[in-house]
Amino acid sequence: MTAQADSTTLAESMAQTNGTERSEGMIRKASMIRAEGVEKSFGQLKVLKGVDISVRKSEVVAIVGASGAGKSTFLQILGTLMTPDKGTVEINGKELSGLTSAKLADFRNREIGFVFQAHHLLPEFTAKENVMMPALIAGESFASASKRALELLEEVGLSGRASHKPSELSGGEQQRVAVARAIMNNPSVLFADEPSGNLDSKTKEEIHGLFFKLREHFGQTILIVTHDTGLAAMCDRALEMKDGNFITIDSSLAF
Ligand SMILES: Nc1ncnc2c1ncn2[C@@H]1O[C@H](COP(=O)(O)OP(=O)(O)OP(=O)(O)O)[C@@H](O)[C@H]1O
Ligand SMILES: [Mg+2]
Repeated sequence: MTAQADSTTLAESMAQTNGTERSEGMIRKASMIRAEGVEKSFGQLKVLKGVDISVRKSEVVAIVGASGAGKSTFLQILGTLMTPDKGTVEINGKELSGLTSAKLADFRNREIGFVFQAHHLLPEFTAKENVMMPALIAGESFASASKRALELLEEVGLSGRASHKPSELSGGEQQRVAVARAIMNNPSVLFADEPSGNLDSKTKEEIHGLFFKLREHFGQTILIVTHDTGLAAMCDRALEMKDGNFITIDSSLAF
């Protein structure tokens, strides 16, 4: 099989198992990410005051706002890493509040990809092994995880660096490995929290471009918290968080 055919297969398989195409006859879903009335306090500090969001399949949406506005808190709640005090979260049509912690962990591993400001790669493993990790945790065979990890490293432009450990990679390369790892299990949604915060401007642009390539190739749905106005402007929409809620919805798409 040629490299081209391989990558087409990868793109097709990701697109088909993501969201609306998942099962024939299923009602088309409007939202891949939907939350309603999300509230969260830390002690006396009410950080989120009834936040709503709805993100459609293949949308790339930015969340912006001042430091301390609650952006990371909201992203962690959407990503099932934190429970809200009130409100509902639905990812790919699945309401999450009733799940046991074991079911939630399994759901997170399969349906949600994360990219953080710090890459959190495991230092003793190679780039390819780091990318394989979520699939191995999900019970995929070593051979198929290895094949897919190499395909994804090629997708992020790192096929020549697969056997390098994180300490042997540049900051931008490390972050690209982290992006490949985040989409290893073909998640319905990809959450990124200041993914280019630690990078120089050229490397930043490479990482930003990568998100749009993932949308183009795989139909990936992506929500990005960022302080980077250039990245926010590239997204389909930017939502600004202030005083515990979204204040601006800048939509360049009519819907
Ligand atoms: N675990 C916690 N315990 C107590 N307070 C917290 C906790 N997590 C966040 N906070 C507080 O909640 C508020 C929102 O924090 P959050 O990290 O969501 O902000 P942010 O918008 O992501 O900011 P930044 O742009 O600086 O990353 C802040 O005032 C923060 O100090
Ligand atoms: Mg934050």
